[in-house]
Amino acid sequence: MSEKLGTVLVPGRINPRVPEQLAQVFEVVTASQAPSADIDPAVLARIRGVALSGKFANEWFDLLPNLQVIANFGVGYDGVDTAKAAERGIVVTNTPDVLNDEVADTAIALLLNTVRRLPQAETWLREGRWKSEGPFPLVPLSLKGRHVGIVGLGRIGREIASRLEPFKVRIGYHTRTPREGLPYTHYASLKAMAEEVDTLISVLPGTAETHRIFNAEIFSALGPEGVFINVGRGTSVDEDALIAALRSGTIAGAGLDVFYDEPNAPAELLEFPNVSLLPHVASASVPTRNAMADLVVNNLIGWFREGQVLTPVPETPVRRG
Ligand code: GLV
Repeated sequence: MSEKLGTVLVPGRINPRVPEQLAQVFEVVTASQAPSADIDPAVLARIRGVALSGKFANEWFDLLPNLQVIANFGVGYDGVDTAKAAERGIVVTNTPDVLNDEVADTAIALLLNTVRRLPQAETWLREGRWKSEGPFPLVPLSLKGRHVGIVGLGRIGREIASRLEPFKVRIGYHTRTPREGLPYTHYASLKAMAEEVDTLISVLPGTAETHRIFNAEIFSALGPEGVFINVGRGTSVDEDALIAALRSGTIAGAGLDVFYDEPNAPAELLEFPNVSLLPHVASASVPTRNAMADLVVNNLIGWFREGQVLTPVPETPVRRG
């Protein structure tokens, strides 16, 4: 292994481009997502980097005494206990920016699919019902004239906002502190924004602060014309409250790319005609996923070659190698 930069663990599934590229410069150890007892301790001791998609089981921290860096595939890194990583001086990286456009495009598509029921209209054609039964029924909702509130106006949220402008909707956003120089209305309170707007688009990450913040109170504030779109994390939603709000007509519809306990989308949601569901595909194109894979690999190469990473997350310190 002397010609390799070092040893990197890939626990569980990841985009295949990551291990392929890593193998050119690293010794790559693949393993199941949760550690099993059969990994040679000498190998565990060599591992200084991890390339990760999804959950990093906390047991790995104790099994990898020389771990220095965890390179997460995805802008959201809720699969990693960053407090534990920080405590041990382990740097965590994510894949911001390279997916902004793709996720923003998906958010707009999901919004349109939800209000106009376009996937159901396509199914109508594919099932021969246009021929046998006539036109697809008119849909009750429209994007026209909507007032949209974006929850979380970071890099992706801004791309969503700028894509919404040509749709001639009103645009507001909720963040803790207002963003300077933007032509959108800032709301310091999520509830106050939900009361004003009729459409919420969430880009929130999965953190302790965002856990189930979309609850019965927020759906009730959004109201009977309300549409809720989520391309952030499913853990921000009280799914029982969402299902109850949809069932009772408290809100008019929802479009979801993310769920509380993926891949388990609640069965009740599948029954609602006013709901559009996607299997967490917001960034899922080959070009965007390739760019994310390359960023994972380049973060690891940067660390092993120069003790520097390209995109560290704010919670973990960058310790020079
Ligand atoms: C996808 O959900 C990501 O966090 O990149």
